[in-house]
Amino acid sequence: MITPQQVNDLIKTRRSVFQQQYTGEKVDDAIVRQMLENANWAPTHKLTEPWRFVVFTGEGIKKLAQAQADIYKKVTTADGTFKEERFQNLLSKPALSSHIIAIGMKRDGKKSVPEIEEAGAVFCAVQNIYLTATANGIGCYLSTGGVTYFEEAKEFFGLGKEDKLLGFIHLGIPREAPPQGRRKSIDEKVTWVS
Ligand SMILES: Cc1cc2nc3c(=O)[nH]c(=O)nc-3n(C[C@H](O)[C@H](O)[C@H](O)COP(=O)(O)O)c2cc1C
Repeated sequence: MITPQQVNDLIKTRRSVFQQQYTGEKVDDAIVRQMLENANWAPTHKLTEPWRFVVFTGEGIKKLAQAQADIYKKVTTADGTFKEERFQNLLSKPALSSHIIAIGMKRDGKKSVPEIEEAGAVFCAVQNIYLTATANGIGCYLSTGGVTYFEEAKEFFGLGKEDKLLGFIHLGIPREAPPQGRRKSIDEKVTWVS
């Protein structure tokens, strides 16, 4: 039986662990499958289950790196904002992660739920992935950088016009235990009415 204290500890010790902090070893695919299974149990209004995932690992990471760098180059060359350093980062940085999971939000045909609720459900799924990573000693973080907000990137991740790419989860074996997190007191953010 899971105790309330174990849940408190899991939530509080969850940390974002970034690529530079990974050893380069591979995370077991079975743990990644468990993360996705747990993601699938996130709350979802009207059971639309809007989360979609594309998991990149091994050669797949190279394909992701090339695709995102190409998309970046095409879009930014057209609008005049291209930066070589950014392009090189998009090409090289993915190799530091064991797995990269693209996070998509799929709109249901009837649009029965407001978009903000669908995005909320997907971020709940992301939290389940984060917590599963913590429980397994896996480094994990959500990135909303790179091509996340490029319309032109959606197709590569199997998303349509109405859907949204919401970011990328990076996974790796952490070199060391992450430092303690910091938060301001919850008392500053809560009003009780009784
Ligand atoms: C919606 C969202 C987007 C994020 N995007 C990025 C990002 O693009 N780059 C990054 O380094 N961290 C990103 N993060 C991770 C935050 O940096 C991290 O959660 C924050 O530093 C708090 O640390 P903790 O997760 O260890 O508590 C994102 C987190 C969330 C919730």
